Amino acid sequence: MKQECQILSVAPKPFVKWAGGKRQILPIITGHIPNRFEQYFEPFLGGGAVFFNLVSQDRKAKWIVSDLNYDLVLSYITIRDRTKELISSLESHAQSYFKSPSKYYYKVRESNPKGQIDKVSRLIFLNKTCFNGLYRVNSKGKFNVPLGRYVNPNIVNKENLLAVGRILQSKDISIKCQDFEDALKHAGEDDFVYLDPPYQPISTTANFTSYTDENFDYQDQKRLYAEFKSLDRKGVKVLLSNSKSREILSLFKEFTKGIVEINANRFINSVSQKRTGHTELLIKNY
Ligand SMILES: C[S@@+](CC[C@H](N)C(=O)[O-])C[C@H]1O[C@@H](n2cnc3c(N)ncnc32)[C@H](O)[C@@H]1O
Repeated sequence: MKQECQILSVAPKPFVKWAGGKRQILPIITGHIPNRFEQYFEPFLGGGAVFFNLVSQDRKAKWIVSDLNYDLVLSYITIRDRTKELISSLESHAQSYFKSPSKYYYKVRESNPKGQIDKVSRLIFLNKTCFNGLYRVNSKGKFNVPLGRYVNPNIVNKENLLAVGRILQSKDISIKCQDFEDALKHAGEDDFVYLDPPYQPISTTANFTSYTDENFDYQDQKRLYAEFKSLDRKGVKVLLSNSKSREILSLFKEFTKGIVEINANRFINSVSQKRTGHTELLIKNY
């Protein structure tokens, strides 16, 4: 009983490491989030670092979160609806992995399960054991990341999966797989939107025209800017994360007053002993 209580008291956090995850700069982001809103929208959810932080506080709101990645959204739904079955399936992956890590990893990587539990436990298993811990598929939708160098990866974080399942069940939360424009159709005054799209790459050449990053190209950044403007006109409070690139600074020039620069010193260049941290932007309309 005592152990069960301890398990339930853990605060939920991202259950996968995701490209562009916001855990490191979370305190800076949350410092810019309004105290009150009726509905919270996060249409580029990813690992959900910001969402989990806010939803576990004592705020009364409706939470509308989404992402275009179907497998990721299925993972949230499975943790909400079938937590225990998922934990058992992950435990079975962990057992086989620790007997023969490399052999088992590549076997799972090549598999293509169709069932909900098997699909999601494969995603989480690969995320916990692959190189760099990032779930990334190639242009053909195939996961091709090699095995990571972990001595004892935490494949089944049972406490966190239970905490995530519990929060998803207990609050007024809608989770969907959709494009950001569809997700934001019903945002209105008194609502708050946090946008964390795939970042515009920093241009290194003068004759830059367009880049593609996870199929989110410059046209999508323009589409996102149009959405930001439209939300602004409706009186919605909007906060956007993006790179400090000239394309983004130029698109959002009208909101210059609401731009905050964040120094994310994530990379240390060991060869030159130099910090090569990069600067990101937070852009807000309030
Ligand atoms: C930078 S990540 C978000 C990271 C997240 N904030 C975190 O802490 O893990 C961007 C997310 O946008 C999603 N995405 C890409 N294109 C999208 C689109 N058109 N509409 C909605 N989501 C999209 C990707 O699947 C990815 O999960």
